[in-house]
Amino acid sequence: MRFLTGLQPSGQLHIGNYFGAILPAVQLQHKGEAFYFIANYHAMTTMASPQALRENTRSLAVDFLACGLDPQKAVFFEQSAVPEVNELAWILSTVCPMGLLERCHSYKDKLARGIASSHALFAYPVLMAADILLYDSDAVPVGKDQKQHLEVTRDLAGKMNEAFGSNLFKLPEPIISESTAVVPGLDGQKMSKSYGNALPIFGSEREIRKLINKKIITDATPLEDPKPTDHSIILALYKLFASEQDYDTMLAHHRSGGFGYGQFKKDLFDAYWEYFRDAREKRDWLLVHPEYVDDVLRTGATRAREEAARTLARVRSAVGLV
Ligand code: ADP
Ligand code: TRP
Repeated sequence: MRFLTGLQPSGQLHIGNYFGAILPAVQLQHKGEAFYFIANYHAMTTMASPQALRENTRSLAVDFLACGLDPQKAVFFEQSAVPEVNELAWILSTVCPMGLLERCHSYKDKLARGIASSHALFAYPVLMAADILLYDSDAVPVGKDQKQHLEVTRDLAGKMNEAFGSNLFKLPEPIISESTAVVPGLDGQKMSKSYGNALPIFGSEREIRKLINKKIITDATPLEDPKPTDHSIILALYKLFASEQDYDTMLAHHRSGGFGYGQFKKDLFDAYWEYFRDAREKRDWLLVHPEYVDDVLRTGATRAREEAARTLARVRSAVGLV
């Protein structure tokens, strides 16, 4: 079983990204072959600064490794280190009806958010299909928002098989985790970097304390009274980090009264801080060993390119490009 997923290098990672994307990917690397990459070509559809693209690509590599991506298990690489993906995207685009892309929500959503329309933004799902099909992926762990792109991928694989030979591509399955589908942000909406409600995975102690203390709004229940537990952001976030026993204790303290929000927020901070302790230490090491990160990405790219060359030779031959 081969798992593949890509993450865009679009800024500081938050715990929504961690529980929704990174942790599932890290867990899957023990269950089969994993191909994970940094989708820097895709990031260019919304990012115009070369410096930001370079820095974000680097920090995503470091953060993903710090969070447990094991380069002995997973092939980890930058999307742009395998330029063959663009050739496959072109070939796929020849069987891609315009209507298929016109229906994609994510394109329409991005325009609605004020992102400039471009051919690349429109053709984004075709490049994503090429990412997936180039490596003969069986299963693709993604967030719910990417489900439609997986449908486009399956559609294009089917059209290619119809046109050029029934065994050209496997039809990949999405893996969409419903349970981690939504990590709430500090304001209770879905956590997202665009909503200003995110808790970073690797914030400084001061920054995280400040975010928890200032951005989680609590009600005016007096300290001695029981506190509401439904829709409690503190409880929802604490659950992600605390042991079951500690979570039950906090829940009981909400119900009994006699404990204030200040204490709950402190407990939340402590649990967060402890949860990412190992990852933080690993990250500190990676930041002073850039050559190690370079080496991981180089090795991953070499391995990915071998795979890409094999698929592309097969496809070129099937479509008559020889
Ligand atoms: P953002 O919403 O902050 O822009 P992205 O769209 O870049 O995040 O998401 C990157 C990955 O992280 C996707 O797989 C997405 O499903 C996952 N993800 C993002 N936010 C959350 C969240 N609040 N809960 C669970 N998963 C999330
Ligand atoms: N579009 C994905 C996202 O924004 C990133 C991505 C690019 C991807 N290519 C992929 C995910 C291939 C899975 C498979 O989250």
